[in-house]
Amino acid sequence: MPRLAFRPLAPSDLPLLGGWLAEEPALRWYAGGRAPTGAELETKYLPRILGEVPVSCWILLRDGHAAGFCQTYRLRDFPDHPAGARPDAAGLDYLLSPAETGHGLAAPALLAFLRQVVFRAPDILICYADPHPDNLAAVRSLLRAGFSPAPLPPPAADVLLLARRRPLQS
Ligand SMILES: CC(C)(COP(=O)(O)OP(=O)(O)OC[C@H]1O[C@@H](n2cnc3c(N)ncnc32)[C@H](O)[C@@H]1OP(=O)(O)O)[C@@H](O)C(=O)NCCC(=O)NCCS
Repeated sequence: MPRLAFRPLAPSDLPLLGGWLAEEPALRWYAGGRAPTGAELETKYLPRILGEVPVSCWILLRDGHAAGFCQTYRLRDFPDHPAGARPDAAGLDYLLSPAETGHGLAAPALLAFLRQVVFRAPDILICYADPHPDNLAAVRSLLRAGFSPAPLPPPAADVLLLARRRPLQS
């Protein structure tokens, strides 16, 4: 079993993240089909790194090597989220580097991110993810990590809302 850990995203990680977003599967499912430029990456992620935008961004480390990207945020800071602005909830987004996809890493990485980052905040009781319904690798990895379809009004057709509650022992 690989050793999974997270370190905060740093400005020096942006070229690495940009490279991941320029290749499949992240290009299609995370970048919307167009690789962001360096300037676009800085505009989007530097305010998050500096804490000016309340989205916390992390590099996934597999046995010490950068293997992916995860971010989490409180729904109350994003009232337009499909799950609404409930105060005890977080959302997450994630991707693996192209070299790391297809090896079964996604579910263990999600579980590690929930345990090590998302549910470390004591007031966060539930975490949502909202993949595109056709993004089968994302949906299946979320289900394998214990997420299930959220009992909420169905959001837009291009979003499948899944949720996982804080485990009792964490
Ligand atoms: C989503 C992502 C992290 C999943 O990682 P992965 O390494 O591809 O997934 P895994 O190898 O762990 O496989 C997860 C499951 O999806 C299945 N799967 C993988 N690719 C698939 C595909 N193209 N079609 C159908 N199922 C697929 C696997 O068989 C596995 O199923 P199982 O758990 O029932 O055995 C990765 O594909 C990725 O980074 N995608 C781009 C970013 C993204 O989509 N993020 C999610 C936004 S919410």
